[in-house]
Amino acid sequence: MKPYPGGVTPQPAAPARITVPDLRARKGGEPIVMLTAYDAPTARLVDAAGADVILVGDSLGMVVLGHENTLGVDLDDMVRHTAAVARTHPRALIVADMPYLTYHTGPRDAVLAAGRLVREAGAEAVKLEGGARRVPVIEALIDAEIPVMGHLGLTPQSLHMMGGFRVQARAVEAVERLLEDARALAVAGVFSLVLEGVPADVARLVTAEVPVPTIGIGAGAGCDGQVLVLHDVLGLTDGPAPRFVRRYADLQSVAVEALRRFAEDVRSGAFPAREESYRLPRRVGEALEERRRRGLTGRS
Ligand code: KIV
Repeated sequence: MKPYPGGVTPQPAAPARITVPDLRARKGGEPIVMLTAYDAPTARLVDAAGADVILVGDSLGMVVLGHENTLGVDLDDMVRHTAAVARTHPRALIVADMPYLTYHTGPRDAVLAAGRLVREAGAEAVKLEGGARRVPVIEALIDAEIPVMGHLGLTPQSLHMMGGFRVQARAVEAVERLLEDARALAVAGVFSLVLEGVPADVARLVTAEVPVPTIGIGAGAGCDGQVLVLHDVLGLTDGPAPRFVRRYADLQSVAVEALRRFAEDVRSGAFPAREESYRLPRRVGEALEERRRRGLTGRS
């Protein structure tokens, strides 16, 4: 290609990246698709599939790091994994979870933690769990120009307060409280709201009540979008999946079978083949052969 006058070669237009205002404007429109990813290869898969949002969730702890719950994930974990996702420059919006204890101690700590996720790691927004009591933190983050996604219902960081991972908002007062929390978060300025583990009717009520898009997980079909954990969707997790998960593939079996065949080929000598090996240039091979024939070895 001829150099462009001025030395700049025109590149094919990259697809426009999805922004926070784009997502905010999807209320009641085309359903939002959000999936988790925790590293570059999974981020590329999610982006290639056309998802709107990549969530670097603190489910990282359970799905990838082998923790029993999300409480063991720290800010350094989230910065490292969010940065890996951001380096793929996806079209999808990158939202990073704020890990446990990075915002519970107050607005200043929250801004400093979220600031690392944005400035060091490349997140475009953060997500945090909890209702009306998080309003001062959400306001401080927005003051610091950091967009916030809320998360209500089954909030895994409240595991011990909830007494386990249980469906939430099943009684009248609990539904009323959830609605109040959702209103408070919307007024505080969240650009969207994850609803996890609540009855479908309740999620529908919340969705009708708030002016920002809701994104459901285990919350039925009445939300403005849906999110699932990538490893659940691809069948890369062990054991029975929760009822809200739909598995679209069984990559665990595919992967184990491929690795089993590799092991078999190594043991039988079928791997590597000639075409999978590097060769010496012919004249070097001949020279070596000649030296060996004449009994010349090593440096002599
Ligand atoms: O951490 C996570 O992956 C999440 C989603 C399940 C919503 O918060």
